[in-house]
Amino acid sequence: MTREEFLAFSRSTSGQEYRERVTGTLSEFYSASPERRMPVIWVEAGGCGGNTISLLNAMGPNFQQVMEGLIDLRFHNTLMWPEDDAALEELDRTVRGSPGFILMVEGAVSSRDQGRLCLVAAREDRMISGSALIRRLAPRASYIVAVGDCACFGGPTAARPNPSGSVGVGRFLRRKVINVSGCPAHPDWMVGTLAHLLLFGEPEMDEHGRPTLFYGETVHDRCTRRSFFDQRVFARKLGDPECMFELGCKGPITFADCPVRQWNCYQNWPVKGNTPCIGCTEPTFPDGMEPFFKPPFELEDRDGAPGAGRPRGGRRR
Ligand code: SF4
Ligand code: F3S
Repeated sequence: MTREEFLAFSRSTSGQEYRERVTGTLSEFYSASPERRMPVIWVEAGGCGGNTISLLNAMGPNFQQVMEGLIDLRFHNTLMWPEDDAALEELDRTVRGSPGFILMVEGAVSSRDQGRLCLVAAREDRMISGSALIRRLAPRASYIVAVGDCACFGGPTAARPNPSGSVGVGRFLRRKVINVSGCPAHPDWMVGTLAHLLLFGEPEMDEHGRPTLFYGETVHDRCTRRSFFDQRVFARKLGDPECMFELGCKGPITFADCPVRQWNCYQNWPVKGNTPCIGCTEPTFPDGMEPFFKPPFELEDRDGAPGAGRPRGGRRR
């Protein structure tokens, strides 16, 4: 499969078909060259662990297939067998012995008080902060992938008043990293990005470092309620079937493929579940998306067309 084919079907297909094609592609690749499984070090810094839970929900391919065929997960605070010194020795071995590894970071980096507000490991009587560990690993990593909005941009961990001084990994390291954003990130976004790295190298990214194969269009662009929006027919309360713009939906300013990708084993997504999009993949989430139940902009401003306004110019149910 060529890179162009991979991009095309990642952008246009979802659910069972996506799952079969990605899994099939990776299985062909690894049966031809199993040694290409890439070592991964996953550091959980200041976050809730939700991206790990999301990864465990992966279906295309599933988590076991990811572990057996795609990556060699050497270090993960919660998923690895070794503990204490044995875990850190495995980490050291990977850094010293691998020609390259992928550093995946979940959670924001606490920059205040020399990182002491986010401690991730202990060696003898010395505590190791998330910021120190990331700073040590970053120069040796072949790729750095931030997963989830906290690791990408600070996210809820860095929400006002942000007492821990938390920031995203790219800002902390002052370099560009691959941002697989979302709260949490969809498992396909994580696994698909890893697959692209291994098969074709670094994916094309937008100005915020997000792979365009998953974040290339807005939620609004592909929303199933879009025809209601275009006719200015808006839901008045949660549960109504029309466009939820007036209930605060941030779909028009949020880049992600949720309407076609869908969540929870490709069953559902926020708008299908009658919840407005709250913009969880955006660099300004959550502070910049508040209030969640107010429209993100005045329609007149965005459209610029005379008579395009709402609600006076639009219809309500
Ligand atoms: Fe756009 Fe949200 Fe309305 Fe869907 S529900 S059409 S994403 S504003
Ligand atoms: Fe997040 Fe909006 Fe998708 S809230 S999960 S980007 S629909």
